[in-house]
Amino acid sequence: MSKVTKVIARQVFDSRGFPTIESEVFCGKISSKAICPSGASTGSFEAYEKRDNNKKYLGKSVFKAIYNVNKIISKKILNKDIHNQELIDSILIKLDGTKHKTKLGANSILSVSIAVKKLSAKIKNVPLYKNFYIKKNFNLPYPLMNIINGGVHANNGLRIQEFMIRPDKARTFSEAMSICFSIIQNLKKIIKDRKLSTAVGDEGGFAPMINNNEVALNLIVKSIKKSGFVNGKDVSICLDVAGNELYKKGKYSIHSKDYISIKKSINGYLKLIKKYKIKSIEDPFAENDWNAWSDFLKKSQDLQLVGDDLYVTNLQRLKKGFLNKSSNAILIKPNQIGTVTETLEVIKFAQKIGYQTIISHRSGDSEDTFISELAVGTNSNQIKTGSLCRSERVAKYNQLLRIEQQLLKKNNMAKLK
Ligand code: PGA
Ligand code: ZN
Repeated sequence: MSKVTKVIARQVFDSRGFPTIESEVFCGKISSKAICPSGASTGSFEAYEKRDNNKKYLGKSVFKAIYNVNKIISKKILNKDIHNQELIDSILIKLDGTKHKTKLGANSILSVSIAVKKLSAKIKNVPLYKNFYIKKNFNLPYPLMNIINGGVHANNGLRIQEFMIRPDKARTFSEAMSICFSIIQNLKKIIKDRKLSTAVGDEGGFAPMINNNEVALNLIVKSIKKSGFVNGKDVSICLDVAGNELYKKGKYSIHSKDYISIKKSINGYLKLIKKYKIKSIEDPFAENDWNAWSDFLKKSQDLQLVGDDLYVTNLQRLKKGFLNKSSNAILIKPNQIGTVTETLEVIKFAQKIGYQTIISHRSGDSEDTFISELAVGTNSNQIKTGSLCRSERVAKYNQLLRIEQQLLKKNNMAKLK
């Protein structure tokens, strides 16, 4: 049996320059590391991220979480079978004992959990994507590239947080990348010609000083056309509204700064969907506004409606959403729930009920490419990991290109619904 022989954690930094935790799990001389990502537009039902009340790091350091790994977690998982992920994760969950992992911190728990998963693959000498529940016929996910950043990921005043493209025409992952590359480069030219800034936001998309959703959408439509593709056919526009951030007392300020009713907000969405051929919308409404979600799903026909802050990768919330007919897709962020095992449970359940599963980065991310492997290993048909810019985003795409090369398949894309 390959046993855990040592676990250590350290403070490293994420793409925003904020401290985060990296854990390293050992089996003898072999080890694997994992870095925990961190969000900015977080859902209130997410697992707890432990940070210190430390002036030096403006409250952002993670030394308590590191202590929890080094002094508490390490002792409990010592000598446990490295390949028994479920056992190790259940020990971590029990050891914490709280609903939202507030005692040990989901960041300390997840960094260990992912490092164990990676180490298991390393010891078996198999690629990481082959160490999940899908065992054959691997496919690559469609990238949802966030090419214009707004909301809390930029300081331009754009209401909607993420304006994305999905290269539906692509039959291989390299083709998907090539389509996105052309559109992004043309978008850069168009933004420059308008004398706007081509500086980027937290997820690598451009963050020009525009504050109107439709201005951003028109820029994207133009760049798709300029690249020789047909919007709504070859390429789809997708949005993440991050509705939590635009909610006040039953009203929303999605379409302009003014707060309007749910009914009017839905009509605003329907107009945008028609005009810009939008195929996917994430978090159109706030995390507790279940009725707004189901009303929208009824009226939006073929739209992919994605729950992120709504579900927070939590099985109970997903079940509630399923009964309520809230959406037809779920965003998967391992740090919203805190262990690999719980993440896989949610993905499996979502796939069973026919939901699309979209594996996602966080706005604060790192060189860690675990989510690329997770996407392939669970046959998730989409991945959301920023623009083709900023190394922490590009690292995930580059890893998928390596996996594509290993698979030696002609048509290697997962099926879109
Ligand atoms: P976050 O943003 O990582 O800041 O939460 C990503 C998202 O909302 O999907
Ligand atoms: Zn989101």
